[in-house]
Amino acid sequence: MGGGYSGNSDGKNFTYGGYLGLHDLLSLQRDEQGVSNDEMHFIIVHQTFELWFKQVNRELRDVRDILAAEHVPESDVPKAVSHLSRVTEIYRLMTHQWKVMETLTPQGFLAFRDGLGTASGFESYQMREMEILLGLEDVGRVSDMDPLGHFRKLSTRSEADAAALARLEKTLSETTLATALSNWLSRTPIMGSLYGSENDDDTVAEYVEAHLSAYAKIGEDTCARMEAQGVDNIEAVRNRFKSASDGAKDFLMPNGKINRSRAGLLFIESYRELPLLAWPRVLIDAVVELEESMVLFRTHHARMVERIIGRRVGTGGSSGVDYLDATTKYRIFGDLWGVRTLLLKAELRPTLKHGEIYGFAGDGTE
Ligand code: HEM
Repeated sequence: MGGGYSGNSDGKNFTYGGYLGLHDLLSLQRDEQGVSNDEMHFIIVHQTFELWFKQVNRELRDVRDILAAEHVPESDVPKAVSHLSRVTEIYRLMTHQWKVMETLTPQGFLAFRDGLGTASGFESYQMREMEILLGLEDVGRVSDMDPLGHFRKLSTRSEADAAALARLEKTLSETTLATALSNWLSRTPIMGSLYGSENDDDTVAEYVEAHLSAYAKIGEDTCARMEAQGVDNIEAVRNRFKSASDGAKDFLMPNGKINRSRAGLLFIESYRELPLLAWPRVLIDAVVELEESMVLFRTHHARMVERIIGRRVGTGGSSGVDYLDATTKYRIFGDLWGVRTLLLKAELRPTLKHGEIYGFAGDGTE
């Protein structure tokens, strides 16, 4: 292996095994208990996932810290993107790793499953830390599950379990990545208007209203076309477009008040070609890609589980596959997904104002 370290604290040169702690690492697979190949494979697959989770949590904390700053220097956005890209690649790798797990046959698993007792991935405190750090809310979880409830029970068992709970509680008290991202988005210059500047509220309201009316008009025009073509059940179609239009309004103006974070997100997504918005949109894409890769990870876990244990109750006592499938509906960055429904093709979006602020002097700017 290459350089990057010159020796250990005694000033002696490291060995490969010493640097990586291999002697310790390779003593953690229960060889002394005479586990079968199947069971060792089960242990190693879990351990490698947990090692990756450790790295993922570090990367995500860094992204959160970058975005939580009151002022995020432009040069920090690419750093956040590279942390996110690494996490996405790790997730892709882990999603593929379920295939290795699937080499375990149902009978092969049954041979040692009883020995697991109630131990379950449900108790993966690193996975819970990741969810909390990202900003998965309790109300969004299956049955409004309290993610710490189980760990409070476990915490009395050992110091390590108490430390895991303490870490989760600390994470819960911190700003989530979703909140940091939303706050950052709310400071997006919209139609040339800076966050907190004079007349900003009016400029943003004017932009949002212009977008909403263009969106509503598309619905009406499409309905009129469909009606002219004699589409069946035109009333139902009309209601669908009307509720899409109401939904767009609720999204951008919940309780009648403009949500500047969502307006900023809409602006970035709508005017993606503007040079100043290039990195913000790359960052948004990176977050969407990350969440997509997490959803696929959950989906493939559920399929692997279905293949190995069918519809059995999980060792943790959940409904098993049904529970896991329900978790594939989780969306932490709901706004980033939601805004896609509202986008308009370039010719129909409100005319850009103050394009020069975004490093753009192309046609169509005022
Ligand atoms: C034979 C292999 C596996 C089976 C049959 C299996 C089964 C299950 C089941 C049924 C659950 C739902 C909770 C419960 O009632 O136990 C679960 C949850 C979970 N499993 Fe697995 N699993 C397997 C392998 C893995 C591996 C290798 C990992 C990697 C760390 C893992 C991570 C998780 C996590 C993180 C959860 C919690 C999901 C959540 O609550 O959102 N599982 N698993």
